[in-house]
Amino acid sequence: MRTQVGIVGAGPAGLMLAHLLHLQGIESVVIELRDRDYVEKRVRAGLLEQNTVQLLTESGVGQRLQREAMHHTGNYLRTPEWTHHLDMEKLVGRSIWIYGQQEVVKDLIAARLEYDDPLLFEVADVAVHDLDSERPRITYTHEDAQQELDCDVIAGCDGFHGICRGAIPDGVLTSYERAYDFGWLGILADAAPATDELIYAWHPNGFSLYSMRSPTVSRLYLQVPADEQLDDWSDERIWAELQTRQASEGWQVNEGPIVDKGITPMRSFVCEPMQYGRLFLAGDAAHIVPPTGAKGLNLAMHDVHVLCEALVDLLRSGNRTGVDGYSERCLRRVWRRTSRTT
Ligand code: APR
Repeated sequence: MRTQVGIVGAGPAGLMLAHLLHLQGIESVVIELRDRDYVEKRVRAGLLEQNTVQLLTESGVGQRLQREAMHHTGNYLRTPEWTHHLDMEKLVGRSIWIYGQQEVVKDLIAARLEYDDPLLFEVADVAVHDLDSERPRITYTHEDAQQELDCDVIAGCDGFHGICRGAIPDGVLTSYERAYDFGWLGILADAAPATDELIYAWHPNGFSLYSMRSPTVSRLYLQVPADEQLDDWSDERIWAELQTRQASEGWQVNEGPIVDKGITPMRSFVCEPMQYGRLFLAGDAAHIVPPTGAKGLNLAMHDVHVLCEALVDLLRSGNRTGVDGYSERCLRRVWRRTSRTT
């Protein structure tokens, strides 16, 4: 098989890149380790910045988002003594939308299937080859058959644990990493949020965040030590601690059945450069920021927007300016976001 751009990974980065390339008439094949149901149900990020919403809307996959996303003009900062509303729209003219990552993924998969370009789920044994040549290749197994995909370019959108970054020869990349001594215990609950916008709360017991996924689903986080055990946190203990850390006079966190809970370690990781030969890394494959700033998904969208423009120039007219500057352009933004959230 042959394609112009071989895309490894059908997360937000891989799917969005494939969609943007399609709009420019560039063909691609997307291969994904997991099944469709898994990627469409994976609960992760859920805050879209203005640039991301604009990109999704202008590229024609924003209809459901425009209908269903919750639009926030700011957020609340809280301590046990006071609550302050930060009106971002008024202060800087920017706002945010609450819309789950899995919803973005569903919309992008639906678009891709509609125009019937290759999107393969449940591939295995993925490997990338000849990255420093003009014809890089991807090999993989799909439906028990071994496949080889010849490409002009490969996009490594396979997340932090993917194989693309590791296929770059030793000595090319410099990695920067920082692990924090705390994590976030996050819950998803069938409970209408008791707030119209996010509440970032400081408390002597530790930080907590009140956020939401929809008018009926709350997403809440408690800062905990990095080595905390989830088993030590019964649902009752979680709600009690949230009530304590989020307390405000005459107001309470709305409780309901907890449908998902987990502890996320806090880590920052950046690799430089985000490219080697004809392999380009995008999204979590190249950088991770802690969820504290809700930047991961938005940075991934920015990467693939820049990458798409660069690949169009390269593949249509052989112009290398965009691809040569890809890493630097994306990393400038990544470093700004990384230092802000650390
Ligand atoms: N072959 C094919 N696919 C792979 C492989 C592989 N060897 N390894 C991983 N994948 C797939 C994963 O199963 C996943 O679906 O690549 C995809 C990577 O997706 P994400 O981890 O979501 O990464 P990315 O697309 O960069 O998403 C960026 O979205 O939800 C947010 O916070 C999240 O920061 C993250 C952001």
